[in-house]
Amino acid sequence: VSGTPSAYRERYEYHQRPSGGKEDANMDDAGHAGREDSLPAALHRLGVGFWISQALYVVAKLRVADELGVGARDVADIARDVGADPDALYRVLRTLASVGVFTEIGSRRFSLTRMGAYLRSEVPGSLRAQFLTITELDWEPWRQLLRSVQTGETAFEHAHGMGLFAYLKKHREVGQMFEDAMTAFVTENGVAVVTAYDFGRFGTVVDVGGGHGALLREILTAHRHVRGVLFDEAHVVAGARMRIEAAGLAERCACVAGDFFASVPAGADAYVLASIVHDWDDERARTILMNCRAVMTPAAKLLLVEMVLPPGDAPSYSKLLDLEMFVLTGGCERTEAQYRNLLASAGLRMTRVVPTRTASSLIEAVPA
Ligand SMILES: C[S@@+](CC[C@H](N)C(=O)[O-])C[C@H]1O[C@@H](n2cnc3c(N)ncnc32)[C@H](O)[C@@H]1O
Repeated sequence: VSGTPSAYRERYEYHQRPSGGKEDANMDDAGHAGREDSLPAALHRLGVGFWISQALYVVAKLRVADELGVGARDVADIARDVGADPDALYRVLRTLASVGVFTEIGSRRFSLTRMGAYLRSEVPGSLRAQFLTITELDWEPWRQLLRSVQTGETAFEHAHGMGLFAYLKKHREVGQMFEDAMTAFVTENGVAVVTAYDFGRFGTVVDVGGGHGALLREILTAHRHVRGVLFDEAHVVAGARMRIEAAGLAERCACVAGDFFASVPAGADAYVLASIVHDWDDERARTILMNCRAVMTPAAKLLLVEMVLPPGDAPSYSKLLDLEMFVLTGGCERTEAQYRNLLASAGLRMTRVVPTRTASSLIEAVPA
């Protein structure tokens, strides 16, 4: 399940500031720093976050950003081309312009901002598939958060009657959207991971639960002597194979279908698990890690790509993502100490945590 490209993170951090950038010190004793910036107003803005979320869903679904890809346009023209009511679409664009996604450059004439450009479907790091996923996959389970907090049960299973990955396998069009959302995230995150860590020292890298292979493609493109093995469930591997072939990497990359709760391919120098361990509770995460440990040589490395929870109440997207894991899979984000303990319980010793320029880190471990 996805993390956050920087455009998304910047937007999140913007909304975390009580007054859109003004500090508490600017407020009077009652917490007022201007008509819109009182503490109750700031709290209210947090409470209506889903209004923005739904407006983003609408423009993502209607491909409004693609209509603006070549430049500014009148709302009436966009509405005609995407099949929307012009007045209603105007109100949505005006709202999203007020939070920096579009800009109204003339009467009812809009263009994309640099942030809004990530809504386009064909740009690297596009967030379109993520916004579709947030509403079409996450919305119902999130409505059940209260019940899950009261019972500790996974909301997704309650909403859909099965686990996330079983659901994605059964509903392939939603599964495709989910894999596209993951790919978009990894497009930015993958570059950061490959920049932060030297994968060139390895002969063979297995990407365990590698999805459509965005990270592995990044690794193999950066290091021309490295060979890759993409390991995932059969229905996902089919999509990965196509993309690996299209990238001209088929000769150096095998695609292997399987179940990481049963076993993982042997014979690699490095086992990468990106956004895998956070999908699962400790018991199931330990099973995956032990299956990796079982096939690792003493010199092999295991690399988790995850967000590490910072201590205290420091703002961090990882805390939001932790709730998303609670709702979707019953997994969680973890602190550095929790990762160390989890790895140790699977016979692995954590050697270091390497930060990247995104919110994700590489957690390196070796056989204990
Ligand atoms: C959150 S996605 C992460 C994908 C990829 N590593 C990334 O960073 O984009 C989790 C992946 O685990 C895979 N997966 C889930 N259950 C699996 C299983 N039992 N065996 C192998 N792969 C599995 C899913 O198909 C999916 O590709």
